[in-house]
Amino acid sequence: MLSEKMTEALNGQVNRELYSSYLYLSMSAYFESVKMKGFANWMRVQAGEELVHAMKMYDYVTSAGGRARMLAIEAPQFAWTSPVEAFQHVYNHERAVTGLIKALVGIAISEKDKATENFLQWYLDEQVEEEDSSDMVLNKTKAVGSDLSALKAADNELGQRRFRFPRGFDMFPYGAQPEGTTIGSLKK
Ligand code: FEO
Repeated sequence: MLSEKMTEALNGQVNRELYSSYLYLSMSAYFESVKMKGFANWMRVQAGEELVHAMKMYDYVTSAGGRARMLAIEAPQFAWTSPVEAFQHVYNHERAVTGLIKALVGIAISEKDKATENFLQWYLDEQVEEEDSSDMVLNKTKAVGSDLSALKAADNELGQRRFRFPRGFDMFPYGAQPEGTTIGSLKK
């Protein structure tokens, strides 16, 4: 059974994951507006992953006997000046999220809540991957500089990213099955 303090902290993180999804959706819209569909795709997949992070934690709160609470989601930044600025923002944001997850682990330890501490290990592993992948794209965009053909190649490459649900995660646990899914219908 989750303590009140643990429940509140996890609900706060659900909100931050939803904010992350919102932030990356805003970046996707920005890249769409400057006709960089590969970058827009990468950000949209990232927004989907953040939504899954939020839902996985939301499900944990309820399954552990807590009450999920939906808090106001802050409006994210609207525009960026370049891919480098956007990916620097992604990288900084992911590092900040890692700090938040570590703080949650600290609360789980202080609450002697081993189950939550174990649950959070998945997020710590995920953060290693997210810091790494955003750093990789950041370095790639820095290397591109003002070379337009290299930018186009990077855009094509980021357009290859695909969304996958994490193993064992059920987005629709009440029995609904996704129907009529169309993949990759946004034409380049
Ligand atoms: Fe859910 Fe990118 O942290």
